[in-house]
Amino acid sequence: MDRIRIVGGESLNGVIPISGAKNAALPLMIASLLTDDTLTLENVPHLADVEQLIRILGNHGVDYSVNGRRQAQDRGYSRTIHFTARDIVDTTAPYELVSKMRASFWVIGPLIARMGEARVSLPGGCAIGTRPVDLFIDGLKALGVEIDIDGGYVNARAPKGIQGGSYEFPKVSVGATHVLMMAATLANGTVEIRNAAREPEVENLAKCLNAMGARISGAGSETIIVEGVGSLSGARHRVLPDRIETGTYAMAVAMAGGDVMLEDTSASLLESALDTLRAAGAEINPTNSGIHVRRNGSGLEPVDVSTDPFPGFPTDLQAQFMALMTRAKGTSHITETIFENRFMHVQELARLGADIALSGQTATVRGVEQLKGAQVMATDLRASVSLVIAALAAEGETVVNRVYHLDRGFERLEEKLTRCGATVERLSS
Ligand code: EPZ
Repeated sequence: MDRIRIVGGESLNGVIPISGAKNAALPLMIASLLTDDTLTLENVPHLADVEQLIRILGNHGVDYSVNGRRQAQDRGYSRTIHFTARDIVDTTAPYELVSKMRASFWVIGPLIARMGEARVSLPGGCAIGTRPVDLFIDGLKALGVEIDIDGGYVNARAPKGIQGGSYEFPKVSVGATHVLMMAATLANGTVEIRNAAREPEVENLAKCLNAMGARISGAGSETIIVEGVGSLSGARHRVLPDRIETGTYAMAVAMAGGDVMLEDTSASLLESALDTLRAAGAEINPTNSGIHVRRNGSGLEPVDVSTDPFPGFPTDLQAQFMALMTRAKGTSHITETIFENRFMHVQELARLGADIALSGQTATVRGVEQLKGAQVMATDLRASVSLVIAALAAEGETVVNRVYHLDRGFERLEEKLTRCGATVERLSS
């Protein structure tokens, strides 16, 4: 298993190109199941999760080619990939595949809409909480889908197709919003989705679906209206920049100090996180092509944050911000409201000398003078990168074990940091 070795103490200076968003690419790839035409996606990041979803989609009959070639082995930055689901050969998504990546459950939306049936394994447990699928089921039922759960599988049938209707989510869910929106594109009638997730990835998916011929309005707001159409066609669409990668590197600069231009991204995707970073003492200046981040000399101010659905502070940046606060000149409180068990990084940060006390959903972080390098373990994607951020400012050497978590969501992390002057290397085993 690969490990990453980091020697702390260098500031970061230079340019970091931001990749296409993993959490937009995944639902966009799944949307290719809705048409027998080719969906071309530009700016798809080269990540383990993307490769895994390519395999899962292949099982349903989706063919793909990368920039014209049918291979995905090159380690290039974000690529253009063509997806074609000429025939759906299988409407079952088996446990062996779905259990590896929760987002693959989302194939249920396009499969039920296009084929009138889907049998999808319940996703397995997950390191950040229980993550049930009740909202998907209730939402699909509101659109006339018959559902039963049997032997760990969700069996969905819509013999007369998806029906027009209205559903209000009792709780905001990104994935369930993606699924209802995709299913609704082929509905008989109009679908109203209320209390929808407003994340930029939802808006990006709606834009792509509309380019494919769907009639969606309101994506990015609380109410999405989808007028069903008979069929969708192919399209060409660009994956939006990864706001979580953007925020992660902004926090890395705030932690290590330095002057970095984050390129090919947009401040509008993460205003709340950037405001929080400004309050902590980083200089953040949006430009036409990205965000300029600087922090020189002075220490970090403690800032309290609470995670929230977009446009609030993202849960996917909570661990990284906690890493930053371990060095603040005082005490901060970090509250997680989205997932009940997303604090796996706390004990690993403590191995580096952080002073964090957990009480329910709130972590109290007392800033320390200095962190010290140690052996630590990556537990999930965002927790792993929080350890990298902490290590950049720790004295001496840190080795992060189990970095396959990082490879799920960060394209060429070592290279991006090394080019800015950090000492980061992958130890292959
Ligand atoms: C998406 O997950 C992201 N994943 C997550 O990013 C992100 O943390 C999350 O949204 C919140 O922003 C992708 O986009 C691939 P949810 P998702 O449904 O859609 C509860 C990362 O690190 N819920 O919005 O699975 C759920 O348990 C990942 O990149 C139900 O109760 O999240 C959670 O508490 C991790 N019932 C809350 O809603 C349901 O049926 C929000 O989850 C569905 C969800």
